[in-house]
Amino acid sequence: MKELFKSDYFSKSSPTYSQVEDKDYHIIKEIFKNYYTEYFDNFTEINKIDSLDGNSKNYLILLSNTKSIIFKNISNIKDIDLLKNKIEVSNKIFNTTSLLPKFLLNDLGEYFSKDNNNFWLASEFFDGRSFNGSMKHTDYTCKALSRLLFNLKNHEKINTDIELDTHSTFINVNTILSSFYNNKLDFKSSFPLDIFNLLLENKNFILNTLSKIDLSFISRDDFQLTHIDLHPHNVLISKSNDVCFIDIDSLMLGSLKKSIGFMIYKMGRQFYIYNAKKNNICRLFLQKLNLKDEDSIVSDLRSATCLEILRRISIIIECNMLKQDTRWNSMLGIQINALHEIPFIFN
Ligand SMILES: Nc1ncnc2c1ncn2[C@@H]1O[C@H](COP(=O)(O)OP(=O)(O)O)[C@@H](O)[C@H]1O
Ligand SMILES: [Mg+2]
Repeated sequence: MKELFKSDYFSKSSPTYSQVEDKDYHIIKEIFKNYYTEYFDNFTEINKIDSLDGNSKNYLILLSNTKSIIFKNISNIKDIDLLKNKIEVSNKIFNTTSLLPKFLLNDLGEYFSKDNNNFWLASEFFDGRSFNGSMKHTDYTCKALSRLLFNLKNHEKINTDIELDTHSTFINVNTILSSFYNNKLDFKSSFPLDIFNLLLENKNFILNTLSKIDLSFISRDDFQLTHIDLHPHNVLISKSNDVCFIDIDSLMLGSLKKSIGFMIYKMGRQFYIYNAKKNNICRLFLQKLNLKDEDSIVSDLRSATCLEILRRISIIIECNMLKQDTRWNSMLGIQINALHEIPFIFN
């Protein structure tokens, strides 16, 4: 096991940029020119936005005299209609609160710009840095999240992805973990050896964590439109302390306890790293979120967050088992570490 509460990928300030390869540069510039003529008049430069796996498809288009644009290649999106609904929610919430990004229509009056088999999406650049864990960032992020959740809750119903209900999530996670650990040798060849070994070394710990989840929180959980991936890089904070939550693909009808618990864990560990302070982090966040900080709520959130992390671990396992899809493998260590850190945050 790695040492707990060490800086990780999400502790680095985001975004960072790198140069776009020549061939991509010309393609992107051409699409932008064809679909966003008005903005193209102010075109100056394209930068690539760095990502965890190095395969970023997000670009910053710098414009003179006006706000720059985030230009995103979304060809890997499963369901473009669901994404369109989320864009519309984002723009509505932008209009009233500016807490979500503003997406831009192209010359055809559409959000998606097609070129060959690629789809592109443009949003206004929000000039901010990711959550760094300081008390100031914690204050502004919690206040903003409390407003965002209120707005999402009261948003008219939209057709969007729906998470499994929390009980079914538990059953699913249980099924995947048992099937992997009971038949592990059958699956060995589907996994890179280091990942397989990491899962074996942590077998007892992972299964114990699963068995200790107190499922009684499920009856006290709410399902609503929420953001299910609130980590430090999905929150941007401007110099004047305005907050914008990005990655709107993560807007879903889902478990409020899992989404808030996950946020408190991810931001809370960053708070711990920044302030070298670990006491009562969950309670501090609950107060700042304007929620009750009773023992029973801390305990519900602890169970919900363990379930969310185990859900992510079981997705990594399933990807390897079924499709030899190794995309998320670099996150396995971070997730196992999370299971060790959760008890310190939710105490
Ligand atoms: N509206 C925006 N303003 C500024 N930066 C953005 C914006 N949208 C995305 N980014 C940058 O691009 C990165 C990736 O965008 P995101 O929507 O989170 O997609 P994903 O994490 O799925 O690749 C973010 O971490 C952020 O650095
Ligand atoms: Mg993101």
